Parts: sequence; C-alpha cells; structure tokens
Amino acid sequence: MSKKQEFKQYSWLTTKIYSIMLLFFKNTFVVDTFIEKVDQSKEVLEIGSGTGKDYETLSKHYNITGSDYSDAFLKTLRKKFKGQQFYKINALTMESEKHYDVIYSNKVLQHLTPEQLEKSLIAQYEILNKDGLLFHAIWKGNPNEGKYEGLPDVQYQPEDIDKIKGRFVIEECIEYKEMNDNDSFIVILRK
Ligand SMILES: C[S@@+](CC[C@H](N)C(=O)[O-])C[C@H]1O[C@@H](n2cnc3c(N)ncnc32)[C@H](O)[C@@H]1O
Repeated sequence: MSKKQEFKQYSWLTTKIYSIMLLFFKNTFVVDTFIEKVDQSKEVLEIGSGTGKDYETLSKHYNITGSDYSDAFLKTLRKKFKGQQFYKINALTMESEKHYDVIYSNKVLQHLTPEQLEKSLIAQYEILNKDGLLFHAIWKGNPNEGKYEGLPDVQYQPEDIDKIKGRFVIEECIEYKEMNDNDSFIVILRK
C-alpha cells in the first residue's frame, strides 16, 4: 500500500487547531441543504464527523450516528457529546453492522483517491437501506492545477463522481462556496 493510501492518524494538536479554525468558519450551507432535502424520519450515518460541528446540528433533527476513523477525533467527539455513541468507521471499507437510510459527510471524501472512493461507494451501497441516499459535500479542485499528485487531498470535480458512481444514480449536484466561489460541491446519490 502506498503512502497516499494509508490513513494518517491525526494528533491531538491537529484536532485542537481544527476546532479553533471552525470558530471562524460558520458556513452552514451543507447542513441547511441537508435539512431542506432529507426527511426527518430518516436514519442517518455521518462519516468523518471530525469535531462534531455538523453532528451537533443534525442530531437535533435526525436519528444520527456519528463516526470517524481518527482516534483523536473520536476522543474529542466522545468527550464533547457524553453518552452518545460514535463508531470507528473507515470511509474506505465502511464496516458497519447496521444499515442506514442516508450516509452523510462534509469534506471527508477528498481524503480518498479515486480508486479508494470507488471502493468506498461500493461499500456504502452495501450498508444503505433500499432507496437509500448518499449526501456528500466535497472540496472541488481546479482541473488546471493538477489533480492529486503531491497534494494532501484529491481535487474532485462533479464529473469524477459520475465516472465512479457504480450502481448509484446521481440525483443532484450542487456547487457552492465554502470559502471561495464554487470551491465545493454536494453530490446526492440514490441507491
Ligand atoms: C476536513 S475534516 C472534516 C470534519 C467534519 N466533517 C467537518 O465538516 O468539520 C475531515 C475528517 O475526515 C476524517 N477522515 C479522513 N479520512 C477518513 C477515512 N478514511 N475514514 C473516515 N474518516 C476519515 C478525518 O478524521 C476528519 O475528521
């Protein structure tokens, strides 16, 4: 397995820096769009919950399970949301005994290479209930600036998802501004 394919465990310091950064970025477009589009009766799994910024909002509306593959982020989540269960789930393999109606993520899947993302989507398909939905917000790259060689994350375009969606149907693709115009997109896929 190459360096790019290994999961890099984050340090405690990284999680603290990330929490502080989030104090300055209060863009709620992704969660607002989710709430607008997804019925509150749905059982939701979040992957890559991080510090729980979106989990905190979504748990007021949905029966949602949070998860991450980083031990440091999991520790932060369990400390912050006492008594709530967070699973250690790798987006690449999606090992889960439970099935869900919706799988949600915000700025997580760009950590996977296209080959890994293709595998992840197959694995996500397996743990989705009938007619289940994927709702993923991903950083969008500038195709003129190279794709992923030497970059910490993959730079995806919406059309990349179309190539690797497998048995999913793309229901919607919404480009939006996280920090700069059209630097991100939400892709909604139906089983
Ligand atoms: C940029 S942070 C986003 C966190 C959170 N979703 C948010 O919007 O603040 C990326 C998160 O994805 C998680 N992550 C990265 N690779 C992952 C993988 N293979 N499986 C599960 N989580 C992963 C990291 O541990 C981190 O919590």
